[in-house]
Amino acid sequence: MTAQKLLYLSRADVEAVNLDMATIINLLETAFREKGHGRVEMPPKPGIHTLPDAFIHAMPAYIPSMKSAGIKWVSGYPENFKRGLPYITGLLILNDAETGMPYAVMDCTWLTAFRTGAATALAAKYLARPASETAGILACGVQGRTNLEALACLFPLKRAYAYDILPEAQEKFVAEMSAKFKFEIIGVQEPKQAVVDSDLVVSSGPILKHPTPTIQAGWLRPGAYGSAVDFDSYFSGPALAQMDRISTDDHAQFRYYKSVGYFQQTPDPYADLGELAAGLKPGRQSPQERTLAINLGLAMDDMAVAPEIYRRAVERGLGTWLAL
Ligand SMILES: NC(=O)c1ccc[n+]([C@@H]2O[C@H](COP(=O)([O-])OP(=O)(O)OC[C@H]3O[C@@H](n4cnc5c(N)ncnc54)[C@H](O)[C@@H]3O)[C@@H](O)[C@H]2O)c1
Repeated sequence: MTAQKLLYLSRADVEAVNLDMATIINLLETAFREKGHGRVEMPPKPGIHTLPDAFIHAMPAYIPSMKSAGIKWVSGYPENFKRGLPYITGLLILNDAETGMPYAVMDCTWLTAFRTGAATALAAKYLARPASETAGILACGVQGRTNLEALACLFPLKRAYAYDILPEAQEKFVAEMSAKFKFEIIGVQEPKQAVVDSDLVVSSGPILKHPTPTIQAGWLRPGAYGSAVDFDSYFSGPALAQMDRISTDDHAQFRYYKSVGYFQQTPDPYADLGELAAGLKPGRQSPQERTLAINLGLAMDDMAVAPEIYRRAVERGLGTWLAL
């Protein structure tokens, strides 16, 4: 039997591939169209929970048309920042769909950050006003950065408001994002200031089982789009009840999270991102609607993108080949 090899891509290797956000959004769009037509295999994520509000989840998916099969083993630890460690870390394995052989293992920190931003932008393509010019980012961490970058790919942004509970995190975000983008980035003192004048609002703070949500009814203006990356931790029940349209990325996983205690005051989503991407459900219907995407983060997001990272790494000679 010939020796089998797999490519190991460290976090630095994945970052060096530096797949652009527009490509990631396109890959997700293709994958979600497939999901809308029922052509993605994705069981609900099993997980273990080692500390309150921490998780380590197993996320397998198979997208036949993209020849992508694999699993992500990802952790989220809200207290990690106290040790100088990322909130989200983990590994992803790609398998050859024809033989089952693993052919790549990669760090999934970068991928998780970028595909989640891309999912916000993809949902916004159907649910936000195309002329949206202002963004509000609440929580200036990894997700705050990638969500803003993804929205900037699809919308003619002129200004973004940024709020973080930690002033130093907010200042760093404003400095970095001002250097990256041509539009204005304004740090604000109160969360409400990042919401009331924004066409696109992203909440990306810690996901908590028993949160004290910040965003109140009436803050999101008519015509605005929200993306609750942190589930129902930032948007209050009355603010959620005021939405004209709520989507998720997967109905079954939304129901699962609801059954274990999240989203108790959240109206059930009318559509998932697969249905929106496949044109099976309508997106925004009027300029006045308040819309919200609750993307829970799916294994298929990762499997849509990881093979492209692998292909480009091979092309550029990045990574380390290991014996199986
Ligand atoms: N839905 C998904 O697909 C998905 C995917 C990845 C991560 N997430 C979630 O996104 C969230 C952010 O992840 P990250 O990697 O950006 O973490 P991060 O640690 O990089 O950033 C979190 C930021 O939140 C700030 N913060 C904490 N409490 C706050 C509050 N009340 N108001 C404003 N800011 C506050 C922190 O100071 C920090 O800057 C986590 O909850 C994570 O679980 C969701």
